[in-house]
This record gives sequence, C-alpha cells and structure tokens, in this order.
Amino acid sequence: MRLVEYLFCVFSLQRLWFQLDCALALQAVPRVAVSFTEQKHKSHFTMDDISNYSVFLVHESSRTLYVGAKDYILALSLDSVNDNPKWIEWKVPKQHQDSCAQKGKKEIDCHNYIRILEFLNDDELFVCGTYSFDPQCIRINLEEFQLGKLISDEKMENGRRKCPFDPSQKYAAVMADGVLYAATVNNFLGTDPLISRATGNLDSGIRTDATAVWLSDPDFVGSAFVRESQHSDIGDDDKIYFFFTETAREFDFYQKVKVPRVARVCKGDMGGLKTLQRRWTSFVKTQLVCADPDSENGIHFNILKDMFTLQSEPNDWSTTVFYGIFVSQWKKGEVSAVCSYSIQDILEALNGKFKEYNRDCEKWATVTGVIPEPRPGSCITSQMKAMSFNTSLDLPDRVLNFIRDHPLMDQPVHPIDKRPILVKPDTNYETIAVTRVAAVSGSKSHYDVLFLGTDKGHIHKAVKIGAQAVILEDITLFEINQPIQNLQLYQDSLYVASSSSVVHLPIANCSKFRKCHDCILARDPLCGWDTEQLKCVNQDANESVRRCERTHFIDQVTS
Ligand SMILES: *[C@@H]1O[C@H](CO)[C@@H](O)[C@H](O)[C@H]1NC(C)=O
Ligand SMILES: *[C@@H]1O[C@H](CO)[C@@H](O)[C@H](O)[C@H]1NC(C)=O
Repeated sequence: MRLVEYLFCVFSLQRLWFQLDCALALQAVPRVAVSFTEQKHKSHFTMDDISNYSVFLVHESSRTLYVGAKDYILALSLDSVNDNPKWIEWKVPKQHQDSCAQKGKKEIDCHNYIRILEFLNDDELFVCGTYSFDPQCIRINLEEFQLGKLISDEKMENGRRKCPFDPSQKYAAVMADGVLYAATVNNFLGTDPLISRATGNLDSGIRTDATAVWLSDPDFVGSAFVRESQHSDIGDDDKIYFFFTETAREFDFYQKVKVPRVARVCKGDMGGLKTLQRRWTSFVKTQLVCADPDSENGIHFNILKDMFTLQSEPNDWSTTVFYGIFVSQWKKGEVSAVCSYSIQDILEALNGKFKEYNRDCEKWATVTGVIPEPRPGSCITSQMKAMSFNTSLDLPDRVLNFIRDHPLMDQPVHPIDKRPILVKPDTNYETIAVTRVAAVSGSKSHYDVLFLGTDKGHIHKAVKIGAQAVILEDITLFEINQPIQNLQLYQDSLYVASSSSVVHLPIANCSKFRKCHDCILARDPLCGWDTEQLKCVNQDANESVRRCERTHFIDQVTS
C-alpha cells in the first residue's frame, strides 16, 4: 500500500470508524491474528488410531455430528465434540489390504477412507469408503450406530460409480430425495470419469457419455441439489449441479489449459430410448469465470478448489448463491481468489447459445445453425408434456444427437459484481463455508460471513461488505501445520476436519475485544458493544451499538 493510501486510511478510520474505501485497500490483511496458544474457546477432538477426518453430516434432532475418517465413522455431540463420542470401525480385511499393496499401491492408501456420508431417510445413514481401492457402501441404522455395532461384510454394496477408488482423488456427491448423484471415476485406473445417478432402482442408473466432449480429465469439487420445481410456473424439474475443473478443449493455446465448470442434470432424467440410452439427456455445462477485469494483466483464476452452496431462504431456491475458491494454473501456490455466482446467471448461461467445433475453420464457435425442438438439454416441463414428451424417453433422436455432441454452452458465467470478492496473495485456500447473518446492531442488514480453510491449517474469517470481502481474523488451529480438509457450519459453531482432529470453535468470539473501539473496529457483524454491560457481545445481545460514544471510552477507562 502506498503511504498516501495508508495515511488516508488511518485518517478516515479515526474520523468515521467504518470506512468502506479503507476496507477495500486493507481487505486482504486480517485485522486480528489469533495464534494457536491464544485460543481458549476451541476444542479439539482427537483419538489414537483415528486419523484423516473428512466428511461431516449434521443430525439436528439428536444434536449429533457424524464424521467420516480413515476406517471409522464417528458420532460426536454438536454441543461439545469431546462429550461421549461414539464410533463404528469399518476396516478392510488384512488379505484385501495385502492384495492392494501387491497391485503397487501404497500401504497407507490401502485403507477405507470414508468419502460419502448422507442420510438415506430419517433413520438410516448411507456411507461409502474407498475400501482399499475397491469402493464399498453400507447402510447404517442410526439406533444401531448408537450401540456401536460392527459392520458385517454381507451388508456392503459395490461403491462403483458412487465413491472414488483412490483416497487422493477428487469427487463430489449429493443425496436428492434419497437418491445419490455422484461425480467420480468408474475404475481402478481412474480412466473413466463420470457423473451418475448412482443409487435407486437399476433402471434409473444414468451416467455421462464417455467422451471427452462431456468430461475431459475432470477434478470434481462440489455438487448441489436445487429444488427448482418449487413454485415453478413452468412445471420445471429439480436440478443437480456439479462443479469441477477440466482440461479445456475450446481454447487454442500452446499448453493444456484448465477451465472451471458448472454442469447440471435434471432429477427426472431417464435417458434416451435408443440414442443416449442410460445417458443423461439433460447434461449441459459451461465455463465459470473468476478474474479481475480491472487489472491489466488480470490473473485468470482457472482452477476451482471448492464450492459452497448458500441458499439464504430455505423455501426459495432462487436465493441460491455459489461461493467458489480458485487458484491459477500459472500462479500456483501464490494467490487464491473467492468468486460468487448467482443461480440466475448460471441458468441464463445454460439456457443460452451452444458452442461447437467448426471443422472448416478449426475453431470452437457459437452454434449459429438450426437448433432442433424441443430445446436439447432441457428438463421435461409442462409445455413439453403438452407436446407429448412425457419423459426424456419420448425425446426425438435429432434432439438427443444434438445434445450428445453439444453439451458445452457458449456463454460463460461471470461472478456477481463481475469480479472476485477476495484476492489473497501467498495463500492456498482449500475449503470454504459461508453463512448469512443479521448484523447484531441497529441496522437490518445482512452479511455473508465466509470461513476459508488454508493448506497450512489456518481459518480466515471474512465478511462481505458491498462487492468485496474483508478478512477479519486469521486463526491458527494447529500446533503442527496441516491442511484443512473440510468445514461445517451449524448455528453458532464451526467444525473443522483435518488429518489429526476435528476442531470445534464458535463462529464469533466477541468477548476477546475488551474495549468499545476494538469491538467496533473488528467489523464483525456478529459482534456489537453492549452499552449496559460494557461488553463486546455476540448476536444474542438485544441492545448493542456500532459506534462508540465518548462516554464508552470514559466507562472503559474508569471500569
Ligand atoms: C491422511 O493423513 C496423513 C497424516 O496423518 C497424511 O499424510 C495423508 O496424506 C492423509 N491421506 C489422505 C488421503 O488424506
Ligand atoms: C403422455 O401422457 C399422456 C397423458 O398421461 C398420454 O395421453 C400420452 O399418450 C403420453 N404420450 C406419450 C408419448 O407417451
């Protein structure tokens, strides 16, 4: 920062306490750094023999946090992770492990890394693990879990198409009305990537076509179930979105270029009758853009690392916003960015023009010719039913042939406000979780609070103010650096998964600010100054302020 800017900042901070311009200049510098030893409010759950904590699942009514790890599934208390933990062991038999090692895999990878943890219904869990490069799934009754029953082999079902083989492989999976949709690889060698409807009755097992136009060496990072049939006046279907990075085929470049993508399928898709049999008829995808349009040599953040889905109104899918973290292929390890996308912008792109490879000029270009009817890649809507296309099985071959060859859309999706909300040098973000909160004090405004996990075991807490996010805190979670594997927000708590432990911390720790101006300058929407108690308090406070009056200082000094 230049000196002039700095002086301006200091000056305006003193004058106005809450100066947005200032925040923009300072956004990437956390105001508060919390070291490992300073933290009194967090608790670490660790257990001998259990490591590689990975996936979380919240069960509200029993206040349980289910956690997947290496060879174990745990049930912890949401209120206090160290209180009466329960677990089930699900190990790979020794013989099976030996044969995995004989196939040239590392011993450490020949375990059962839990990758999928979902509710099948009200009283059953659906769990999948890599099971020594032979993925398997099981159903676990929640009551039996509480009794710590062991898992018997008979109960296992093949995890192919659902769960990765290799614990280092990226994947995504989401349960939609009791049916699992998964993005993973289909074989031991990792050569057949796919997005599939992976459970449910056999006839509904639909997948992506195995051509590079559909998926080209993808790294899957996230998925989301969006209930778009809700209040739909066109009789729309529910959708499942997938987020990944793949090798671009549409750019002319001397090296392989990676491109971040969003793809979607319709829940009711049954595949085609002759063409695209047991393949999606509704698979469409496009590019996500995350770049700063203003900087001249703007970095293109073209590798997506994680995607968080925030639906701020539970009964209104149109409030869905996706928050992604990105790095750049050309500046790996040097800088990360956060970009957010609205579902409306994604829909617009997916309903727009198609792209195709033009053989004559050897270039990818917009499709300008005639597009068959009904629109290829659509979900079955009321209008289509009126045209006698009751399911995707009724779609004509010309429509199916077209979508088979043209799953890629022409128009990319730009981020909200056309720029990243945060660009952070010298940092590798691995995971993100976001919550929308009402500001504690005075105003009725809402803020999105972001939690970003780094590869070094730090959590950056940031708040989005206007078009930009400001980092409020840099929290060091571990004595020994280790990447953050996963984040789970629930009510006032953040749960963090890493190789060695599950960490439980409050989303705001306002009491650490002892003085009014520290409390206010922290800029944390979850904290406000309580003028009666003379304390920095979080959300529950009924009366708190955003501004420090003179009297508060006097109170401070004298108290
Ligand atoms: C499991 O944890 C160990 C450290 O405890 C780490 O070295 C290894 O990479 C982890 N494996 C996976 C697949 O996450
Ligand atoms: C679609 O459904 C309607 C009413 O359910 C039926 O009359 C019609 O024959 C069906 N069309 C096809 C192509 O199956």
